[in-house]
Amino acid sequence: MTEEIVILDFGSQYTQVIARRIRECKVYSTILPFDTPAKEIAKRAPKGIILSGGPSSVYSAKAPFPDPGIFKLGIPMLGVCFGIQLFAHFLKGKVERGQRREYGKGTLQVTDRSCALLKGLPAKLQVWNSHADKLTKLPEGFQTVAVTENSGHAAIEHRPKQFFGLQFHPEVAHTPQGRQIISNFVYRVCGCGKKWTMKGYAVQAIETIREVVGSERVILGLSGGVDSSVAAALLHQAIGDQLTCIFVNNGLLRAREAEVVKEVFGRNFKVKLQYEDASALFLKRLKGVTDPERKRKIIGRSFIEVFQAATKRAGKARFLAQGTLYPDVIESVPIAGNPAALIKSHHNVGGLPKNMKFELVEPLKCLFKDEVRLLGLELGLPKEIVYRQPFPGPGLAVRILGEVTPARCAILRNADAIVVEEMKQSDWYYKIWQSFAVLLPIRSVGVMGDERTYDYTIALRAVESQDGMTADWVRLPYDLLEKISNRIINEVKGVNRVCLDISSKPPATIEWE
Ligand code: XMP
Repeated sequence: MTEEIVILDFGSQYTQVIARRIRECKVYSTILPFDTPAKEIAKRAPKGIILSGGPSSVYSAKAPFPDPGIFKLGIPMLGVCFGIQLFAHFLKGKVERGQRREYGKGTLQVTDRSCALLKGLPAKLQVWNSHADKLTKLPEGFQTVAVTENSGHAAIEHRPKQFFGLQFHPEVAHTPQGRQIISNFVYRVCGCGKKWTMKGYAVQAIETIREVVGSERVILGLSGGVDSSVAAALLHQAIGDQLTCIFVNNGLLRAREAEVVKEVFGRNFKVKLQYEDASALFLKRLKGVTDPERKRKIIGRSFIEVFQAATKRAGKARFLAQGTLYPDVIESVPIAGNPAALIKSHHNVGGLPKNMKFELVEPLKCLFKDEVRLLGLELGLPKEIVYRQPFPGPGLAVRILGEVTPARCAILRNADAIVVEEMKQSDWYYKIWQSFAVLLPIRSVGVMGDERTYDYTIALRAVESQDGMTADWVRLPYDLLEKISNRIINEVKGVNRVCLDISSKPPATIEWE
């Protein structure tokens, strides 16, 4: 059975980071809503429970409280920030309202080095705080094991019960030794082993898929992106020819994208691949359209139409597989300032119409993105797919400003291929979020040889980002920029100028449309 650490989410922006830190220790972690009944938690028999931080005060009328039964389960617990205050609130300690927030770096001084949670740490270390209220009286049976300049009880312990509380955040990078603290909790306190590996996960997932699917057929929309590709490889290992992958070429793909998918899945993996070349249809419908929103709508609707017709041709199937990831299925927490309406009842089925009746198979839905990549490598997918940068559904259409024509697609595709090639060659491709070319609708004068030119401009966009929500432009080396620019201007007919996009998001967006 998988050893599990349960994280109760009290609305911290770092809850997912805690989950990831634990998984980096090769221990499985699950995020559950803060009010999950103790009985339900007991049924899962986790090796440990973590109470996340959160924006609330235990004094607030709408404070999120856990089922008090969790303190009696006999399971080791770690309370982080708001979590430490919950110990005080429920176990007869005292929390005082802070007059001002303690925010930022602090120095932790370990006062009891025999504490299992703090084993192996130096006597003094940097930690990161973000709290207003603080503990002023220890909860019953607890003792202080570390202090900071502003907090007399920065780390506390109830040794017999194996309850620990931290006023600071061990999960964030600004607490450099935080990983050690978290690994102490999972290994020393909870007694977990390093059992959560992608190899083990693959074996288990293949077994589950076989059980669920039985002898039925499964359809998967393969985009060539990381998630659908890994889902396809996993399903194929589990059920072979019961899986049909549908790949739609909308004519708006990057250079070689369709070829790579055909090569890897069709020829190497021998997946049943239904290749739908709908490029003529998409380009016909985009003729004369310049408005970005209209482009998106046309592409979205056309995709559904083509995909739906393709599933009919693929024959009757009971299941539709999707590469949904864990962050998409974690329920957001309904606390003050975070309305219940935000809870996802269930993510929708990729925007497909209701009359497409499929049951869902989502074999990646308990994995984070980096785990999906590791799983992809484990299943034998090439680096080219596993480390592919995100690519928007509407494809090159949102990178061709103005009308999308076959000729303009060809210009952008050629310029973009050079960007990708040079970024990969210099290894920058793998270090950043996205890098691509954009075709601008302006033409300018140039001179090539003795000839005057009047050609298009390519903008180069390279951004760093964690999740695509915010982004900053990447400071690429001048030599690399020079090489990319020279190659595009020399090799791509119709382009005589390259410029660099140096805007961050916000206020700009990553894509140009
Ligand atoms: P923006 O341009 O909104 O992009 O800053 C944020 C991230 O989302 C990707 N993106 C899309 N992905 N369909 C997609 O599947 C879309 O319509 C779409 N628009 C933007 C974009 O590439 C970036 O990673």
